[in-house]
Amino acid sequence: MFEQILQTHSFEPILLEKAKGSWVWDVDGKKYLDCVSGTWCTNLGHNHPRIMQAMKDQMEKLIHRSMWFLTPVTIEAAEKVLEFVPKNYDAVTFLQSGSEVVEYAISFSQNVTKRRKILSLKDSYLGAFGLAKQSSYHSGVASKLKIPYPICSTPNCSCLDEHNELIEHISKKYVDELACFVLEPIMVSGGILKPCKAFIEKLCKELQSAGVLLVSNEVTCGFGRTGKSFGFEHFDIRPDIVAIGKAMGNGYPVSAILTNNQLADGLSPGEMYYAQSHQLDPLGAVVAKTVVDVFVEEQIVKKSQSKITQIRNIFESLTHSFIKEFRTQGMLFAFVIQSHNNISSKELLVKLKYELLKEGIIAGASLGKEILRLLPPLTITDKEISILKEKINKAFDAI
Ligand SMILES: Cc1ncc(COP(=O)(O)O)c(C=O)c1O
Repeated sequence: MFEQILQTHSFEPILLEKAKGSWVWDVDGKKYLDCVSGTWCTNLGHNHPRIMQAMKDQMEKLIHRSMWFLTPVTIEAAEKVLEFVPKNYDAVTFLQSGSEVVEYAISFSQNVTKRRKILSLKDSYLGAFGLAKQSSYHSGVASKLKIPYPICSTPNCSCLDEHNELIEHISKKYVDELACFVLEPIMVSGGILKPCKAFIEKLCKELQSAGVLLVSNEVTCGFGRTGKSFGFEHFDIRPDIVAIGKAMGNGYPVSAILTNNQLADGLSPGEMYYAQSHQLDPLGAVVAKTVVDVFVEEQIVKKSQSKITQIRNIFESLTHSFIKEFRTQGMLFAFVIQSHNNISSKELLVKLKYELLKEGIIAGASLGKEILRLLPPLTITDKEISILKEKINKAFDAI
């Protein structure tokens, strides 16, 4: 099927044609509640009217320009984004994808520190190419530093005592070679896993005091997905660089990297140089600016809290024996699936995904991590939550 498309990955057997809010429609007119928000991007729902209008207005004026020129909307977007992200960053550039900003954050860190190595957590995902890909959990590049980490949610845990050796080992062995620690505050591709707060805070403190730059990878965690505006706000840390993407474009490809000008002091123009055709384009800028406006003016993160609680309660009440574990953080939900009645966990996952699709619910199945993953838009309505409840019960009962 779809031979004309290069099979970079697998495709579902339906063609989607249009979308609005939490819903997408296929070419036969069947509608689906999009519980993966596109590719985890449409936190405000598809085709948000304010974003659509802002794009239309901007398209009438200017979509693209020579990269040697800036535009008023780009400056305005930069100011809005810098104000929206906490902890006082003063410089930003807009790129296209999450992979691109993480990759840029790494090379920027290497130039600033004059060191080469990159540290990341074992289950985190950094990007689709380059050093970001090599440092991701699935890369298999043995030379990359991907460290284990404790998971716990108790404030007075013993994780630090148990893992102090690891922190000391990293600090002693690698710290002089490390350019940056790229922290995905909650591992999303990796399985909805939240690392221990005390462990992360200690690790970041040790590394930053030795000159290692802390990069917060907010590509998926940012813009309210984890229950706070940005994932790093779950920890008492201050990243040197923040990489954002996905939800800042709400479906349009625009991403951003934030830092402080001071960090770039001393870099030569050659070391600073990064330029590609669509960097800082006005259409992406108007989207970023409008998304931030909607988040602030409509108090999206605050209003999403009650939806998160409702969905969590519904999912927690499911007791089907193929559910091994339920994981959640903010508007991130995952069921870890175990084999049952001689059906393997992977087979069950595929069945669950298609049973849900039959019921008009789009969910994601990660066979490698054995999880069924749901990331509904933050703007999901109470009525849509009731539909989700009914359909998920029906699909799970049918297995
Ligand atoms: C944490 C994280 N970082 C980076 C990326 C890469 O973003 P993109 O797919 O927009 O290149 C993703 C994508 O899923 C992600 O989840």
